[in-house]
Amino acid sequence: MPRHPKIAASTQGLTSRVFSALVPRIKAYEGETFPLHVGDTWLEPLPAARAETLATADHPLVHTYPPPHGMEALIEAVAGKLERRHGVTRTRDEIQIMPGATGALNAIIRALLDPGDEVIIPSPFWPLIRGLIGSRGAVPVQVPFYTRLSEPGVDVEALLEEAITDRTVAIYLNTPNNPTGVTLTEAQLDAVANVAKRHDLWVWTDEVYEDIYLHDTPPPAPLWTRPDMADRTIATHSMSKAYGLSGTRVGYSHGPADVMTVVRGVQTFVTYCAPRPMQVLAARALDQGDEWLAATREAYREQAHKAADALGMEVPSGGTFLFFDAKPYLDEEGDSALPLLLRCVDEAGVILVPGSATGTGYDRWVRLCFTSVGPERLDRALDGLRKVLGR
Ligand SMILES: Cc1ncc(COP(=O)(O)O)c(C=O)c1O
Repeated sequence: MPRHPKIAASTQGLTSRVFSALVPRIKAYEGETFPLHVGDTWLEPLPAARAETLATADHPLVHTYPPPHGMEALIEAVAGKLERRHGVTRTRDEIQIMPGATGALNAIIRALLDPGDEVIIPSPFWPLIRGLIGSRGAVPVQVPFYTRLSEPGVDVEALLEEAITDRTVAIYLNTPNNPTGVTLTEAQLDAVANVAKRHDLWVWTDEVYEDIYLHDTPPPAPLWTRPDMADRTIATHSMSKAYGLSGTRVGYSHGPADVMTVVRGVQTFVTYCAPRPMQVLAARALDQGDEWLAATREAYREQAHKAADALGMEVPSGGTFLFFDAKPYLDEEGDSALPLLLRCVDEAGVILVPGSATGTGYDRWVRLCFTSVGPERLDRALDGLRKVLGR
């Protein structure tokens, strides 16, 4: 029992600093620094979705509580977007407005897991998902996955099957994936669906990068749109990435109405609601932002090409990251990318993420976000990086 001054066992080791080893070196660096560790954007959002449009005179009581379910205008905008993008109708009962995808997944985790339950998190993964599950007292079960999908003859069902126990409740699936940029094919999605159905599992799909596809075609239809998966899938989306609204903390989830009632109940006790002013902006971004989104995707593609070129990599199919094995840039025995990350800071001011934040077994890997700074700054960052890497 965690009596003073102890803390809960389930939150031991949780920190907001995923990259703490680099912090003193970043502080000591005197030149221009490049925050390619943050998954964010240099772009301002669609003009209609900017905070400066929210004058109180035009939006009386915009600072008051909205309903915990979400504002009607945003729920409608979400339904409209899902219909336009995926041709699927979601009712208002099936939709819940959330304080970002982080808040959404937190509520879903709290609604569906008891302490000790297990969730399969295919790795490498978005760094926060492991701690979100762990802080519920549940167990994130890592399965090396996205980096293995290109192996010849890989059996996707077998990869997941090996990790299932009688405590497994759900599979968390993120495609396009942070950090690899991998987008699951239809056949790979079939495999995930088969495993979930065989073992009566929930599937929590993380659709945060659905609109940031870097090749010509959008990702295949997500699992939540399949009639045979609709009753077991809860999908989560965010305004942060594609719409450049990360600081506004708005996202949304949808799933079967009965479970969404429970998720809504839990969310009420977590943050009560997503902020009303930001919901107004999010609704406008969804309703009016299709052109902005297409132009942004184009700009992100250019950034992806530049960054991939600098590192001698292929452009990933989606997302805002490059993820690479740093082995060629390390000493012979080097099994951690940390020495390279320190050199990137010390010699070029470039901040990158150690792969260890994205899962066990990825210590030698590195994540770079190519959208956190604009084109000219990215050029300077990549020049510096080329010098450090000797490319
Ligand atoms: C895969 C993935 N899921 C969820 C999130 C969190 O998104 P939000 O800003 O909406 O909380 C991120 C942010 O980096 C992410 O990469």
